[in-house]
Amino acid sequence: MTAADFLSLADYGRHFAATAPAGVRAWVDGGAGDGITAAENLAAFAALRLWPRVLGDLRAGSAATELFGRPLAAPVLIAPTACHALLDPEGELATATAAALTGTPMIVSTQASVRIEDLTAAVPGADLWFQIYPQPVFADTLDLCRRAVAAGCRALVLTVDAPVSGVRNAEQRAGFVLPEAAQANLRDYAPPPAVEGPRSPVFRGLVDPALRWAEAGRICAESPVPVLFKGILHPDDALKARAAGAAGIVVSNHGGRVLDTVPPAIAALPAIRRALGPGVPVLVDGGVRRGTDVVKALALGADAVLLGRPVLHALFAAGMSGVAHALTLLQTETEAAMALVGAARPGDIDATLIWSGPQ
Ligand SMILES: Cc1cc2nc3c(=O)[nH]c(=O)nc-3n(C[C@H](O)[C@H](O)[C@H](O)COP(=O)(O)O)c2cc1C
Repeated sequence: MTAADFLSLADYGRHFAATAPAGVRAWVDGGAGDGITAAENLAAFAALRLWPRVLGDLRAGSAATELFGRPLAAPVLIAPTACHALLDPEGELATATAAALTGTPMIVSTQASVRIEDLTAAVPGADLWFQIYPQPVFADTLDLCRRAVAAGCRALVLTVDAPVSGVRNAEQRAGFVLPEAAQANLRDYAPPPAVEGPRSPVFRGLVDPALRWAEAGRICAESPVPVLFKGILHPDDALKARAAGAAGIVVSNHGGRVLDTVPPAIAALPAIRRALGPGVPVLVDGGVRRGTDVVKALALGADAVLLGRPVLHALFAAGMSGVAHALTLLQTETEAAMALVGAARPGDIDATLIWSGPQ
């Protein structure tokens, strides 16, 4: 493929599938279990039909928006994904530079291949948020939060849907294990203490013994920046998260990588927006590949979407410029889709733009 062949995010996905090493491919593109949810995330967007309106006044049109008082070029953020050094030698440095160039906030993973302090210092123009995986010792989780804030991260994203790893057979078959580089942010912390209790190897070894609603609330209470909870699919959990102090919710099934056969994230979104009402930022991820998907997500109640795998596909194909190009493609597609449904601004997008007639 030449540069001219990369016209959509799917082109980056095809190039990745055809050329990436088998282990990395299994890690990035794989889902948990039988991959049912990973596939349905995509199918659910494809099944939604837009219902455009014509002849509106589009002269002041733009996908630009804001979250927590800060500007975004489009309602799109980079989802947290581990260890970008596996995709490009520059790793997160390349992704964060592309994020800064395109006006896109980037949520840096706990398992990034660079220390968060080094990344914020290297790319001061980027709007970096930090994703928190609860650590086995709660004091270490709090330390991770404090370090990210001190380094200049503008929000924290607490991932709540992965108390244990998903069962990922494709990775197992390919013999893939995350390299030591993914520990860059965690080297200061002691190994987990031995836990008394259940004999199950799953519950004994992997479940964080400390993080429950109370501890999640403490993270919110102690944080000077907004804390979002990522990985919520049930409206009751969204309400509990808000009560615990969450400033926002990410409706997500982790790209179908943790628990298989849960609903597509876009299908879980409307009930969560209804439960929370307006005013609480709600983001969604899982299966966003087109500008039309961004419009559909906003129509169903999201303020913005996160983009996961396509960023990694583009990083693998062409490093920083690949990611910047992929983000620009999605921004352009989003504005084209907005214009064609008759929405000048993200705030003009509502549920009336989703076809509700016979399929
Ligand atoms: C290779 C890979 C690594 C990921 N690592 C993390 C992570 O470290 N923390 C996290 O909260 N989510 C992680 N995710 C999930 C993403 O943040 C996001 O929820 C998901 O990729 C969205 O779906 P999409 O890939 O279809 O866009 C990862 C996803 C992938 C594909």
